[in-house]
Amino acid sequence: MKIIRHISEMQQIAAAIKRSGCRLALVPTMGALHAGHAALMRRAGEGGAAVVVSIYVNPTQFGPHEDFHRYPRDFARDAGLCAAELVDIVFAPFDVEMYPASSAGYAGASTWVEELALAKHLEGERRPGHFRGVCTVVAKLFNIVQPDLAVFGQKDYQQLAVITRMARDLCFPIDIIPVPTVREPDGLALSSRNRYLSPADRAQATALWKALTAAKDLFAKGERNPARLQASLRHTLEQSPALRLDYAEIVAGETLEPVVEAQPGAVALVAAYFGQTRLIDNVLL
Ligand code: PAJ
Repeated sequence: MKIIRHISEMQQIAAAIKRSGCRLALVPTMGALHAGHAALMRRAGEGGAAVVVSIYVNPTQFGPHEDFHRYPRDFARDAGLCAAELVDIVFAPFDVEMYPASSAGYAGASTWVEELALAKHLEGERRPGHFRGVCTVVAKLFNIVQPDLAVFGQKDYQQLAVITRMARDLCFPIDIIPVPTVREPDGLALSSRNRYLSPADRAQATALWKALTAAKDLFAKGERNPARLQASLRHTLEQSPALRLDYAEIVAGETLEPVVEAQPGAVALVAAYFGQTRLIDNVLL
């Protein structure tokens, strides 16, 4: 496995791999890797593509009061996980190369990529600028690596939708491949942020998946009224005193707009705080 730190080297090697006739797959990550990321890596390598995993804690997608500075960083451990998953290249670029715009560093970046339809709801509403940072860094990674396919998790349902739309709108010739959410045995979606949870909060964090599965069961039994499905989500979430609800929504899977009637393809999304830690999860109905 090769570790690459410089954009120019990544560009040269990616071009050489593609010239050799091999397909190239990209898995963008921020490190703190877990079995969810590993599932993306395995999906990327199916069909024999050379797999590039990018590890870059992207400063521009964090709000001023979010966890950028304390985001877990352990490159040696992450590289070990990539090697165990038979990844071909780990690309871990430097800030000064990713955001070279000015002496003000990334804060001085002046060219942005922004998706305006899907990104305005849910996470986009609560985290202003978040998806602008995500789209900008993913567009940079797409330009650097020029992969044939890129793999993203359904865990971040809205991010997947926004990036799929961005790739289409900007004519990136890249297949965006979704991978189902990998969960702990008790249902909690794996997340780099789970490690922030106290043991007591960790025990209550299963409420997210319990609420989503209860709403999905209700839908399977024929409930189509989004207000009643939302009420069911809230009812389950309110059983956990440690949980502070941010949102519990039923939206159309394509547009992320609220629905008058929930149809197959609608999605239930929840976001909640446990102390300072904010977790999100979702399920397709
Ligand atoms: P990060 O949170 O590291 O996630 C990297 C990828 O792993 C994303 O596509 C995410 O949806 C996926 N993922 C995370 N947890 C998962 C789980 N439990 N099951 C399946 N997939 C999971 O998302 C980002 O980084 C960044 O926003 C990034 C796209 C890299 C841009 O900076």
